[in-house]
Amino acid sequence: MKRYHPIIVAAHWVAAIMILVALFIGGPSLTELESTDPLKKTALGGHMIWGLVIGFLMLVRFVMRKTTKNPPPADAGSDMLNKGARSAHIALYVLVFAMVGSGLGIAFSADLFAVSFGDGSTPMPATFEGIPPRVAHGIIAWLITILVAMHVIAWAYHQFVRKDGLFSRMWFGRRSD
Ligand code: HEM
Ligand code: HEM
Repeated sequence: MKRYHPIIVAAHWVAAIMILVALFIGGPSLTELESTDPLKKTALGGHMIWGLVIGFLMLVRFVMRKTTKNPPPADAGSDMLNKGARSAHIALYVLVFAMVGSGLGIAFSADLFAVSFGDGSTPMPATFEGIPPRVAHGIIAWLITILVAMHVIAWAYHQFVRKDGLFSRMWFGRRSD
């Protein structure tokens, strides 16, 4: 088996783009909007749906990963690096699910689905600062950023130093050897 299942590949790239947009554009610009800004309600609704779609894509990927044939683990050239890669991939799943979970935590503790999608009677909280899931959401955003940067460095190492064509494993094409 040379490549991941096409559904895993498609979900990897769509989720990756959506995560990068939420991390660097959606989330930060949402935080900058004052609660009194009428745009905040719409932006919040958009961010929540965007985040839930990311969670859904990661779930699809996870289930497909467990139920389809995957390529054998890539060899980074040392036992330590191979173990690191495995842990990093597990951590990426865990952190993205934790990001969605903490986002839902903020939404439920501040009744945000009613704020964004209700009849207008639920007020936007003055601030989210200090709510524990909000603090966690900010910290996890940093951890994902660091891990994704390491993930891209690891890919570049495989692609350009080891020249093992790692990218093609996460792309479309004939899967059998
Ligand atoms: C931004 C969020 C990203 C996340 C959360 C993410 C997550 C993952 C995970 C968990 C895997 C392991 C395969 C699996 O179990 O599904 C993987 C594989 C892979 N990713 Fe990403 N990824 C991201 C972005 C990127 C980017 C920007 C690149 C570009 C270089 C990339 C390139 C790859 C490649 C080439 C593989 C295959 C590695 C292998 O076969 O062992 N990923 N990714
Ligand atoms: C993987 C998915 C998600 C990513 C990458 C993401 C990213 C972010 C980022 C980067 C921030 C700004 C953090 C900061 O400045 O400290 C943020 C804020 C926030 N996110 Fe998410 N998020 C995701 C999912 C969700 C979900 C599913 C919900 C709710 C259902 C949600 C609700 C919120 C809320 C309420 C804020 C606070 C806005 C504010 O402080 O004004 N997020 N998100």
